[in-house]
Amino acid sequence: MPDLILALDVLSREEALSVAEAAAPHLDAIKIGYPLVLAAGLDIAAPLSEFGIPLIADFKVADIPNTNSLIAQQVFAAGFFAIICQGFCGSDSVAACVEAADDAGGECYVVAEMSHPGALEFLSGKNAELLAQMAVDAGAHGIIAPATRPERVQTLRAIIGDKKILSPGVGAQGGDPETIAPLIDGMIVGRSIYTAEDPAEAARTYARFRR
Ligand code: XMP
Repeated sequence: MPDLILALDVLSREEALSVAEAAAPHLDAIKIGYPLVLAAGLDIAAPLSEFGIPLIADFKVADIPNTNSLIAQQVFAAGFFAIICQGFCGSDSVAACVEAADDAGGECYVVAEMSHPGALEFLSGKNAELLAQMAVDAGAHGIIAPATRPERVQTLRAIIGDKKILSPGVGAQGGDPETIAPLIDGMIVGRSIYTAEDPAEAARTYARFRR
């Protein structure tokens, strides 16, 4: 059963720290991305690190290898434990993020299939399966796959074996935690926790699906 990962897509330092503090006892990791970093700066990683929970940088890095390296090095230097990159730029671009992760003793996850409806246009089906295989071949620690499509998670699991699957889409996007939990290694939950009246209680509810 999966770890619980909070997607902390709030727009101020104060709210980020307040939600993280409330939910922290129930969390295994906190994922932050452009919404919070653009609002509060990459420095937000420092106070969030004080909760003692690993931080995942969801920048869906998608550039040439050199630029990916530069981005990933900044991420790990800021104290993050893991980075999420896109796979569609190719194996050399992914390898740059994997190398930066390995150098930092961290982890790199590759987006294989996305959770929203528009993903069905490009980031799904055969393309997702090719991306998952490429993530394995590039030495990534795992993939991102959609909690909104459990049958697709099973297909991707057959490709990646015991690499990790982190899965967004539970709650606000309609994914069912009970169905997806046995299939994945990390359940990513954002709005259903950080917009809840009581984020601690909401996090506790999702934490029931943890190992
Ligand atoms: P919600 O509020 O929908 O937040 O629980 C989900 C979080 O996960 C991110 N997200 C994705 N990230 N591939 C990714 O790498 C995806 O398919 C995907 N779907 C959602 C989203 O940005 C938010 O932080």
